[in-house]
Amino acid sequence: MTFPNSPDAAPFSPDANWWRQAAVYQIYPRSFSDHNGDGMGDLPGVTARMGYLSALGIDAIWLSPFYPSALADGGYDVDDYRNVDPRLGSLDDFDAMVSAAHAANIKVIVDVVPNHSSNHHGWFKDALAAAPGSPERARYQFFDGLGENGELPPSDWPSHFGGPAWTRVVEAASPNAGQLGQWYLHLFATEQPDFNWDHPEVREDFHTTLRFWADRGVDGFRVDVAHGLAKDMSLPLRSKPELEILVSDGSDPLFDRDAVHEIFEGWRTVLNEYTPPKAAVAEAWVPFTERRLKYARPSELGQAFNFDLLQAHFDGVEFRAIAQKCLVEAAASGASSTWVFSNHDVIRHASRYAFPDESTLADLESWLMADGVTPVTDQARGLRRARAATLFMLGLPGSAYLYQGEELGLFEVADLPHDSLQDPTWFRTGHQVKGRDGCRVPLPWTPTGENFGFGGTPWLPQPAGFGALAASVQDGVPGSTLEMYRAALKLRRELQCEESLEWLSAPESEVVHYRRPNGWEVLTNFAAVPAVLPPGVELARVAISSGESVVADEGATGAGISAGTIPAETTLWLAP
Ligand code: NOJ
Repeated sequence: MTFPNSPDAAPFSPDANWWRQAAVYQIYPRSFSDHNGDGMGDLPGVTARMGYLSALGIDAIWLSPFYPSALADGGYDVDDYRNVDPRLGSLDDFDAMVSAAHAANIKVIVDVVPNHSSNHHGWFKDALAAAPGSPERARYQFFDGLGENGELPPSDWPSHFGGPAWTRVVEAASPNAGQLGQWYLHLFATEQPDFNWDHPEVREDFHTTLRFWADRGVDGFRVDVAHGLAKDMSLPLRSKPELEILVSDGSDPLFDRDAVHEIFEGWRTVLNEYTPPKAAVAEAWVPFTERRLKYARPSELGQAFNFDLLQAHFDGVEFRAIAQKCLVEAAASGASSTWVFSNHDVIRHASRYAFPDESTLADLESWLMADGVTPVTDQARGLRRARAATLFMLGLPGSAYLYQGEELGLFEVADLPHDSLQDPTWFRTGHQVKGRDGCRVPLPWTPTGENFGFGGTPWLPQPAGFGALAASVQDGVPGSTLEMYRAALKLRRELQCEESLEWLSAPESEVVHYRRPNGWEVLTNFAAVPAVLPPGVELARVAISSGESVVADEGATGAGISAGTIPAETTLWLAP
């Protein structure tokens, strides 16, 4: 087995390329496992579950922010980049978690949030206390307002979570103390002021943060809003209608500007101070063009999330076309591709695929409206298709990013009581859009017991149906989603080889069939009806199936396969 950049490297050795085809498991710390019983997951909770993670067969964990935060945006509002939220543990707990992970041969990736701090960050407090035009304000995006007395925001830009992207401050410094004064930019919540990345201290401080965590042993970084750092704030600021007609060619003043790449080249220099160099992955919601790949160049972060499969319908033609395109482009940039179906920002894929075929994105979004129509969904079908999609994806060359709970087949909790919602979207849309809490509900570990084994009373209520999906219920049960993930992640270590594949089916086929260079094959029937097995596919080669009854039979002879067909919405892995 060889890799492009390191001809003799073993895929899962601690070499510089460990990340290229890793299975990375995203932990949303507050919702994973609560060790101290306060209702919020914590770092000791992660350490205590290291055996579970190891048995799952993942190569790395990625932790969403666990830094001190008032949690205005679930921790993506960071008060102090180089510390641990006391509710989640301490730096010692962090070190213990990293040691436990490394002892289990699991790498650790942490989230860096460089576009904005929180409004409780020391620098922002200094900026509020200082006067307009002061060096303290220069680290953020403070502007005078428009209108006769500066009473209008500097532009009409909306915040990503709803409402305006500007908040006006009450000045603290004389001579205007106590009066309404300047405005600051926050592309997200009010509590998330955007940094000014033209400021050398901002650049230097993030290098310090990278070194701080790298020195503590982390193996990589996930970079939040990577495409947002370099802004063109020259006056006059462009209006929203002007922004809307901009094509993605680098001319948008807020996102994906060419100048951002110099920042990440600087980061790569820091990451390469370590042996092996630290890995990094950009969260850059940039349309799929060569522009997105720039973030993933070896001279920058190395990988960029690709959300194309996540946004696709469960459709063989679409899936194959996306996979092919991403593989070709990633290879051209020197990166390996990434794949993801679920994360803490989107509706869980077992629920997305439960919608009728003709559903649009608008249908899914309306489900999350406060007064949205509850759609007619088919949960069993959603899970069947989610399992098939996951096996299709785990066979592809590149890194698979998995989100906690998908290995249990968890669904979106779209009917959380309104008074429990915490996503800033809920508040900033005037209680119109519920937001992302439905995929962040704390995990069920046991079918009964206090809070399904999560710990204290969870910060978001768990629905009664969660107990049936608990990890302990599925443990050792053939055909369960947990056992399917375990089996696939174990076999994936044999399956992963050179980063290429050969398509064995036609582009327009709903039965998608590919072969890896070492002879492993993956076959998915995306259709809602069984399909005839392609010629030459022998049942004896079926190593794993996404269909429950097939796995339960162990010999892969159930669910129609013995009759020479592959069941509807099912993936098979065929050993060489
Ligand atoms: C992307 C993160 O994934 C999301 O959860 C967060 O709200 C925004 N960035 C802002 O940090």
